[in-house]
Amino acid sequence: MEKNNDKINDVWGRVAAFDSLSGIWTAGFVIVLFSGVTFGIGAIFILTGGKLLIGQLVSIITYCGLLYSCLNTIMQTDISKAKNDSEYEKVFSYLDMAGEREKNKGKQPFVMNKGIYCKNLCFSYPGKEEILSNVNFSFEKGKWTGIVGPSGSGKSTLLGLITGLYDVNDNELYIDSVDINKIDRFDLRERVTKISQDIFLFPGTIEDNLKLIAPEASDADVAWALDMACLTDFIGSLPCGIKTDVGEAGKLISGGERQRLAIAAGLLRKTKILLLDEVSSSLDPYTEERLAENFHKLSESGYTIISVSHKREFLKYADKLIDFASPDYEGYALA
Ligand SMILES: Nc1ncnc2c1ncn2[C@@H]1O[C@H](COP(=O)(O)OP(=O)(O)OP(=O)(O)O)[C@@H](O)[C@H]1O
Ligand SMILES: [Mg+2]
Repeated sequence: MEKNNDKINDVWGRVAAFDSLSGIWTAGFVIVLFSGVTFGIGAIFILTGGKLLIGQLVSIITYCGLLYSCLNTIMQTDISKAKNDSEYEKVFSYLDMAGEREKNKGKQPFVMNKGIYCKNLCFSYPGKEEILSNVNFSFEKGKWTGIVGPSGSGKSTLLGLITGLYDVNDNELYIDSVDINKIDRFDLRERVTKISQDIFLFPGTIEDNLKLIAPEASDADVAWALDMACLTDFIGSLPCGIKTDVGEAGKLISGGERQRLAIAAGLLRKTKILLLDEVSSSLDPYTEERLAENFHKLSESGYTIISVSHKREFLKYADKLIDFASPDYEGYALA
């Protein structure tokens, strides 16, 4: 990131210098130059006996002024485009994760028939103490596994490892019996949805935000996702319904509504594996209960759910609970 950032700063520095120079050139100089040239040609024409009246010359110069301002706009647009292209080229190459795509070439597609397994999994962030030390978990396909544990114990980190957000050592995390490092991460992310506690909504309507995640979603899909996320009543109560503007970063709706909108957007991806990180943290107990029932229905219909929560009530339908506070992290079956 540091290297990329330096390169971007370097490009921006050069763009700023170019901008200052080109500003002098584009701001009026071209018009003055062309007007002068037109006037000069007209004057030569008259002086050499050509039939050009002063009034005609004034008209030509006036119309040329309009033409030159159009040319000026075209030139400025072209310069702005070149400027923006060079400014964002590095940013786009970074977002595109070109290196990641190369690394994933030839890797196996994501297939899960049994589950996700951690075997003596260790993980530490660079320069920090190990937060996961030789842990052994299993997340069975088609089951709901709940994760509880103290703040900072590595629960969200584990979800990040499963989605390939952080690199994990070889032979410590498996999808069925295949090391996750041998699996194409892009394919994995197509099949796994992580709904996080950190929600980001774009300015626009509720519908815009949903369609951004799932552009192909049908109206029926959207209605289903909103229903599963317990948003149907809320949207029905809005004068503009699904066309309601959520504002900058979703500030025009409440925290709990934002959270449920993120759930609806996640569900619209229609992946059968869901990783939920504190998705009920801002919900009232009644809505939380309905949401838990809906996820229960999903797990009964074959969805694999791994959900982290500080609220055990939300996990009451989980088939298994893993407690990060217990020294051996042993999962235990719920009655
Ligand atoms: N990107 C990161 N870089 C460095 N350290 C991190 C990063 N993310 C988390 N940590 C640290 O790793 C530890 C585990 O963080 P994590 O977010 O996984 O905890 P958590 O169990 O999800 O906590 P919470 O219940 O508060 O959400 C914490 O000490 C945290 O400060
Ligand atoms: Mg967390």
